[in-house]
Amino acid sequence: QFAVILAQSGKELVVPSDKSILDVLRVHGIDVPTSCEEGVCGTCVTNYSDGEPDHRDFCLSPRERKNKLALCCSRAFSSTLRIEL
Ligand code: FES
Repeated sequence: QFAVILAQSGKELVVPSDKSILDVLRVHGIDVPTSCEEGVCGTCVTNYSDGEPDHRDFCLSPRERKNKLALCCSRAFSSTLRIEL
């Protein structure tokens, strides 16, 4: 598991190994636009500013991956990820 830190509120939310970042955001009432939820469409792509994502999408270029991640499928190699929400 790892945690996401929400840049706007400073909230830290734990993402268990069997849940996506998106699942956890929804449980906390944070609504993110999505479509495919499989890392293909790019609808859920969000900026991050800290941490090392384990990118599992099929839509971002290596350059985009330096500051963006797909919330529906990405996980993390670092213990926390700071996302711009
Ligand atoms: Fe399509 Fe995340 S919802 S890439």
